[in-house]
Amino acid sequence: MLRTILRSVYRRLQPQPAAAARSEPSPIPSVPLHMDRLFSLQGRVALISGASSGIGLHIAGVFAQAGAAVALAARRKEQVVGAAQALAARGHAATAVYLDVTDAQTIGPAFDAAEHAFGAPVDLLFNNAGILYASPFVDQDPAEVARLFDTNLKGAFLVAREAARRMARLQHGAIINVASTAGLRAGPRLASYGAAKAGLIHLSGVMALELAREGIRVNTLCPGSIDTDMHRVFRDFGFEQALLRRIPQRRIGSVDDLDGAALLLASDAGRYITGAVIAVDGGQALSWM
Ligand code: NAI
Repeated sequence: MLRTILRSVYRRLQPQPAAAARSEPSPIPSVPLHMDRLFSLQGRVALISGASSGIGLHIAGVFAQAGAAVALAARRKEQVVGAAQALAARGHAATAVYLDVTDAQTIGPAFDAAEHAFGAPVDLLFNNAGILYASPFVDQDPAEVARLFDTNLKGAFLVAREAARRMARLQHGAIINVASTAGLRAGPRLASYGAAKAGLIHLSGVMALELAREGIRVNTLCPGSIDTDMHRVFRDFGFEQALLRRIPQRRIGSVDDLDGAALLLASDAGRYITGAVIAVDGGQALSWM
């Protein structure tokens, strides 16, 4: 009896700092922050459509440097073989696969080829293939408009659907659809291009809603004017100065300007981001006209 009483008194006399500490708000994260790990794509398998040039080719290199195995998908497969070899020579896992987004028969096999090359399923899609057709609305040629919608909207839809079906089996994955500021704001000569990109932005939102429970994040990247072959068309038309006046930062973007947003959406740093539409455009979407 006496021993029990002594034990109880002893316990009460012990200081209890833990309770006091718990109630103090702390700026120290419960999990230490490692920037490299936060944006790392180690262990991920990425498929990049339209990887033979411009943004796609560049982002394939960025994802590889962040640790992903990358499948560079292109219609002109021979054009991406060299890029895949250059990445492999630097110690990255990379392969070239054939993909024409307007030909549904090539889509499944492109994913199969990537998975076969790396022995692991694709869990990251950079849905980037696209073409530009610019002309005044009244002059738009139905055949060109059809080709554009086939590539930029139906093609993007088909590739995203294939990716989503496969990622649903994994219960995780990230899809980045590449749209454009032209899908956010009306721009002269861009009727069908802008409409297709606006459609892709909407499609991404619905995908994000439906796929969240499958562990799949779907986000849209909207580049502004980025210096690639596609942008050079504006330069050739003599539109670049007019474009520059509409960009608050007063410069045409470079492909590197997309790195941060692409990595954020691809990696665990963006784990709570889905259904977002991120413009990387020097403020262009704010002052389109
Ligand atoms: P780009 O012309 O260098 O790249 C487009 C790529 O898509 C090319 O490699 C092309 O071969 C590929 N492609 C076209 N049709 C295809 C098909 N049927 N199947 C497979 N691949 C196909 O131009 P960029 O700038 O790199 O464009 C990439 C994406 O970024 C496009 O979706 C474009 O609409 C978008 N974008 C580009 C902007 C810019 O200023 N450069 C601005 C906003 C969006």
